[in-house]
Amino acid sequence: MSTKAPRPRDTDRQRVIVVSGGTDGMGRAFALARVRSGDKVVALGSNPEKGRRLLEEATRSGAVGGIEFVRVDLASVGGTRSAIARVVAAHDAVDSLVLFANRHSPRRVLTEDGLERTFALYYLSRFLLGEGLGPLLRRSARPVIVNVAGVGARAGRIHWDDLRLEHRYGTVRAQLQAGRANDLLGVAHAARPGETVPYVLYHPGFTRSGDLGPLPAPARLLIRALARVAARPVEESVAPVHGFVDNPPKAPLTAIDRGRSLPLDLPTLAPGDAERLAEVTRELLRAITSGGGGHGR
Ligand SMILES: NC(=O)c1ccc[n+]([C@@H]2O[C@H](COP(=O)([O-])OP(=O)(O)OC[C@H]3O[C@@H](n4cnc5c(N)ncnc54)[C@H](OP(=O)(O)O)[C@@H]3O)[C@@H](O)[C@H]2O)c1
Repeated sequence: MSTKAPRPRDTDRQRVIVVSGGTDGMGRAFALARVRSGDKVVALGSNPEKGRRLLEEATRSGAVGGIEFVRVDLASVGGTRSAIARVVAAHDAVDSLVLFANRHSPRRVLTEDGLERTFALYYLSRFLLGEGLGPLLRRSARPVIVNVAGVGARAGRIHWDDLRLEHRYGTVRAQLQAGRANDLLGVAHAARPGETVPYVLYHPGFTRSGDLGPLPAPARLLIRALARVAARPVEESVAPVHGFVDNPPKAPLTAIDRGRSLPLDLPTLAPGDAERLAEVTRELLRAITSGGGGHGR
């Protein structure tokens, strides 16, 4: 697989690329490569020290575009909405929204909105960013949303009656639920009547990135040992994302697992489930916005 850098811009206007989780791992590598090629990058992340280092590295390594760090806790609905408002206030258009933010949560944690944290961070922030930045994306001549998660995996499911995983929590169970929710998010987006922004679901495969800090020591050691022999370098995993941004697919929905195009009739991409999840998500957001929180599910 190609690990080449993004191709030079081919529009007069500087491209604006919003990167959720742009301060570490694949998102950071992607953000730095884009800024070096002349794009304007807005990197979202929660850790101010990582944000500072990102800006330093961009300057040190000869960024010709611009880079902005927006500090935000994407597990918070209000925080995510504030970050969206900041982007909307500062930019007339957004060309690409690239979604990387995620974190393992070995314990079940409820957010300030009453949601299970992995679901809120890994799935709901991506729902909100897609919706909130939709009007700006539709102003771009060649927009795209790229959701970097685990499309193609069949493990895990949406626990419709227990989205907060109150009855049986596990780190992997939470990751898989939110991963399957991201698959359905792409399906729901592409099914919207009149939607013009193509959506790419991308599975990067096992990659030498990922903050293992929250995991117990034995799991950290095991994953590090496996990564040394089996994981892909970050640049290799990120290379296709540059391709999606430089040449957005024409199809409303594209699903790629590493280099392989996936059929869109996979059971994990069922349109009925996508519609159901979109409706459940809207209900949750209505409850949160009206002060009731996400405690119902
Ligand atoms: N690594 C793999 O093997 C692998 C395999 C398959 C799929 N993936 C998927 O690929 C994506 C990127 O993975 P990665 O390995 O690059 O992850 P990573 O290195 O752990 O980076 C995660 C990013 O998310 C941000 N983040 C975490 N919690 C946040 C919060 N509450 N608010 C705002 N930002 C937050 C982090 O920034 P801060 O620390 O600044 O908050 C960081 O920039 C994820 O969706 C992951 O599930 C990864």
